[in-house]
Amino acid sequence: MNHQSMPDIQPMTPDDHADFAAMMLRTPGVVLRTADGYAATQRYLERNAGLSFVARPAEGKGIVGCAMAGHDGRRGYLQHVMVDPDYRHLGLAKTMVERCLAALLDAGIEKVHLDTLADNHQAHRFWRHLGWADRRDEIVKFSRVLVEDDNA
Ligand SMILES: CC(C)(COP(=O)(O)OP(=O)(O)OC[C@H]1O[C@@H](n2cnc3c(N)ncnc32)[C@H](O)[C@@H]1OP(=O)(O)O)[C@@H](O)C(=O)NCCC(=O)NCCS
Repeated sequence: MNHQSMPDIQPMTPDDHADFAAMMLRTPGVVLRTADGYAATQRYLERNAGLSFVARPAEGKGIVGCAMAGHDGRRGYLQHVMVDPDYRHLGLAKTMVERCLAALLDAGIEKVHLDTLADNHQAHRFWRHLGWADRRDEIVKFSRVLVEDDNA
């Protein structure tokens, strides 16, 4: 790492949205959807207060990592886990994910799901390394878009 200090991990707020969206756009393996706009992100963070985190370097502006989590009262969901290349392999993603999972467990959530793109093999290796199970052959996921937006 060419940087002075480890980034701080802080709760994500709506003020992080511009930095978050910029990071999504520069990070291969994740896809920025219409649902990642400011209003929807603000709503998500309000509904899931204290469950999402960003990593912010002391010496610079912006964020270099993110992990978002939410739940529906029954199951938890992890989203948008990413770390900028200069800050990888420092334990940032693992620490942010642990913070998300601890907060979900505190909220009474005992099982957490996440989606990855089928061709994001480095992410698959990462999740397996952290002990996540990918044997969900019994599940077929269906989705339906309720508006005229191919990127909803
Ligand atoms: C996947 C990603 C979030 C990992 O971030 P990171 O901060 O480098 O990960 P960490 O440093 O916390 O690594 C935690 C552990 O996983 C290991 N690890 C990290 N990346 C790995 C990978 N691609 N494959 C296998 N293991 C990996 C680390 O060596 C470390 O192991 P240890 O705890 O035994 O020492 C990062 O590479 C990234 O942002 N990728 C692009 C975005 C993406 O695909 N996100 C996932 C969307 S589902």
